[in-house]
Order: sequence, then C-alpha cells, then structure tokens
Amino acid sequence: MESLLSQQARNAGLGSWQQPGRPLIVYRGICKSFNQQVVLAGIDLDIYAGETLVILGRSGSGKTVLTSMLVGLTIPDAGSLRVGDLELTSLAGDEDWRELRLRTGYLFQSSALYDSMTVGENVAFPLVQHSHLSGEEIRRRVREKLAQVGLEKVEHLEPAELSGGMQRRAALARSLALDPELIIYDEPTAGLDPITGDGIGRLIRRLQEQLSVTSVVVTHDLRLTQQVADRVALLYEGRLAYVGTYEGFLHAEHPEAWRFLRREAGEART
Ligand SMILES: Nc1ncnc2c1ncn2[C@@H]1O[C@H](COP(=O)(O)OP(=O)(O)O)[C@@H](O)[C@H]1O
Ligand SMILES: [Mg+2]
Repeated sequence: MESLLSQQARNAGLGSWQQPGRPLIVYRGICKSFNQQVVLAGIDLDIYAGETLVILGRSGSGKTVLTSMLVGLTIPDAGSLRVGDLELTSLAGDEDWRELRLRTGYLFQSSALYDSMTVGENVAFPLVQHSHLSGEEIRRRVREKLAQVGLEKVEHLEPAELSGGMQRRAALARSLALDPELIIYDEPTAGLDPITGDGIGRLIRRLQEQLSVTSVVVTHDLRLTQQVADRVALLYEGRLAYVGTYEGFLHAEHPEAWRFLRREAGEART
C-alpha cells in the first residue's frame, strides 16, 4: 500500500525505500563523542527494508545515540549514514530532514504523550501538522491507528487515565499516524510488566507483518528480542560486538554476548 507520504516523498526526490537486496540504512565508520567520552568508535551496519533489527547493549552503551541519528536528533562526528537515497551527513536543508522524519515513526524511550491533549488529539497531532486531511478524515484515521495498536474508545481520555502499557500503545499510534515506512522503537517495554511487554512485542511483530515496515528496536530486554528480532546487533564499547541472527547470538563467541545473556536472563524487564 502506498503510504500517505511516500508518494509525496518520491516527488521530492527521496526515492523508494523498498529496493530488494539493497540495504535501506547503511552506517559506515560512524563515530560520536561527547566531550572526552567516545560513545561510538566506528560503526558499520546495514539494515534491510522489511526486517526487524534489534539493537542490544547495556545501559549507556550508545543505543539511543546510534538510532536517534536516523532522524537527525544526533549528528555523527565522522562517517557516513545513508537512509534510502539520502546521505544524512550532508543533508542540505530542513526540507530533506522534514521528509525523512515524516517517513519515520520514532517511539521515544518514555512514551512522551502530550499531557494537555486527549489521547485522540495526541494521535491526530502529526496529521494536523503535516497533512491536508479534513477534520473528519483525521478522526477516521485516529480511530484506525488506535485500533491498529489494540486501543478503542479511548480518544476522549487524558493520557494520565491510561495504564503504562496503554500509554505506550497510544504513543505508538501517534508514531504510526503518517504511515511511516521505518519505525524506531526506543526501549518499548521499559518499565512494563512481562505480560504487558509481551503484548507490545506481539504488536511490533504484527505491525511489521501487516504494514511491511522496517523496524529498529532498541532494548536490553531479551524476551522482547526473542519475540521480534530477525537480526540482532550488540553494541559494546563503541563498536558492534555481534551482528546476526538471534539464534547465533545465543552462541556468539564474544564475551560481552555471554555477559549480556547471563545478566539479562536472570533479570525482569527494567
Ligand atoms: N547529548 C548528550 N550530551 C552528552 N552526553 C551524552 C548525550 N547523549 C548521550 N550521551 C552519553 O552517551 C552515552 C550513550 O548514551 P545513550 O545512547 O543514551 O545510551 P543507551 O544505550 O542507554 O541508549 C551515555 O554515556 C550518555 O551519557
Ligand atoms: Mg537509550
């Protein structure tokens, strides 16, 4: 299905994001430091259209820094980063960033719903900002997006009236409002109990299957990883210690993979 914005994006020269065999996202030699602290020390990573890639790593390992580069929230110090046909390290103007952000759904680490708006207004917000749809059409899409994440009849509630799991779903519905082709989930199960977390995992899987989106999931939740990952990338000391299947990760040679598996296996979701 042609998304709301992809035709528009194509017209703007951004090209198709679905080119079989060609990675959608290519990180090459990406470095990032803050003051004296080296966070990313040369990352090479390909992410393919339609896959779900899970980025694992302990807290503070640079997962958010790495993924927030995809929407320009963090700017690399060195290296190249391509998304579709766009080289993000040499984007000329705001217009290219805008198109890129419109095609990308970003679920922040905290759900970050606007407290002053109802749930429905939250989901409608990107449509009001970036589309020319009528009020009626927007209301229809809001219901559709909420239904997609398993929420119904909550449009008129305040975010604070929802449970943690429902807030996460509502934030996801807002990220889906513009039919993104790429969805980035930053710690989508953090702070949720295992049952609620499983529901989020099933939802991520279902969205990937139904919408054929490309998904990048940042987490240290192994249970979620097992549920959703086509491939896994483990970030450690500024580099990728492992990239491959989840099955392969369970038998990876790298000591950080062992430590990670040992530590996380015994822990609840945090
Ligand atoms: N804007 C910033 N200014 C200074 N340091 C930052 C900034 N953003 C991230 N960092 C540092 O970079 C490291 C990696 O952060 P982050 O990517 O958020 O880790 P995580 O893997 O937990 O998502 C941390 O040590 C963090 O303190
Ligand atoms: Mg983070």
